[in-house]
Parts: sequence; C-alpha cells; structure tokens
Amino acid sequence: MKHIFIKGTNERTLLFLHGTGGDESDMLFMHKLIDSNANLLSIRGNVIENGMNRFFKRLKEGVFDEEDLVFRTDELYNFVIKASKEYQITLDKLVAIGYSNGANILGSILIHHGNVFKYVALLHPMVPRRNIVIPTLSDVNIFIGAGINDSLCPLSETEELISIFESVDSKIEVAWTNAGHKISSEEINSLIKWYNNLFTV
Ligand code: MLT
Repeated sequence: MKHIFIKGTNERTLLFLHGTGGDESDMLFMHKLIDSNANLLSIRGNVIENGMNRFFKRLKEGVFDEEDLVFRTDELYNFVIKASKEYQITLDKLVAIGYSNGANILGSILIHHGNVFKYVALLHPMVPRRNIVIPTLSDVNIFIGAGINDSLCPLSETEELISIFESVDSKIEVAWTNAGHKISSEEINSLIKWYNNLFTV
C-alpha cells in the first residue's frame, strides 16, 4: 500500500489513516502536535471512488460494501503487520489514528482482529459492521472524537459505537465537539491529553 514512513527517535509509532478524498500526507500535521519524536506511518487507502481515495468501497454515503470492507480490513491489517516487521515498529507502542473513512476501517480492524492494537483514536467514526460477534477488547484504549452535530456520523450512531466497545471491555474516552464532521483544535487538544496520559512524553 502507498505510504510514508519516517523513523523517529523514540519507540512509539503514530499510524495515520485519512478520510475519504484524502491521502497519506493529510494527517501529518498531527505528528508534530502529538509526538514529533515518534515514528510515523501514514497509509493511503487502496480504493478509488470518483477520484477520491478511500479504505473500502461503499454502496452510497453511509452504506458500506461489507464484503469489500472485510477484504480491505484484512488487507490493511496484513500491511501494517508486514510494515511493522520491515520498519521495526513495536506494535505494543503503536497508536493508530483514523479520521472518518480511516476511523471506520480502524474500527473494523478492532472488531475483526481483537486486541491487535493497544491504542486507537477514532475521529468521527461510524459503526463499521452490525450483527457480528466482537472479540473482547480489554487490552485496547480507545479515544473517540465525535461531533454533537456531525451530519455524517449522527450522535446516536456514536453512542451505539461507544456501547459496542464498552460491552467488550475496552477502556474508552470520548471527546464531544461542536464542529460537525471536522477535526477541531479542541478535539486535537483532547487527543493530545489522552495520548500524554498513556505515555510520559
Ligand atoms: C465512510 O464512508 O467511511 C463514511 O461515510 C465516512 C466518509 O464519508 O468518509
């Protein structure tokens, strides 16, 4: 998968997954803000929809192509495992951060692959799949950044996602903001606080 890797000077790694229409450079600004000494791995989604990069196909806005979602979830998961070997990334110290479509595939990795990542930040996520058995996520610390007025990810869907993760014992922190589907500076500040509580930066 097309990606950027920058070697850092500490053992932590920030993994970034962009939103629809973005690419691997979109979220790089957060590296500086969150932990500029960490390794950085930022990946471009392999699906193109009308010229826009995505991590999996959808049937229409908000309706996912489940078969492709499952296929792409495994593809991305396998790529991250392979990259972690190639770049000597310690998975236990990897913090995966996804926005919108990137958050949705990250959520899908969690519900399909269990405790594979310990630290996951989902910015404006939706429920990736319903009616499947989800493994326990008791080793996973999850940050959710959500908009109370997000027209793409309605508040009720965020609440549904929170209760799904709570039901499988993940440690979850939620920051509600008022900037629609956008990542606000308030949200980034909450994300930095969450990160700093996980590690002593
Ligand atoms: C998705 O398709 O993953 C969601 O609708 C969010 C987005 O449009 O990227």
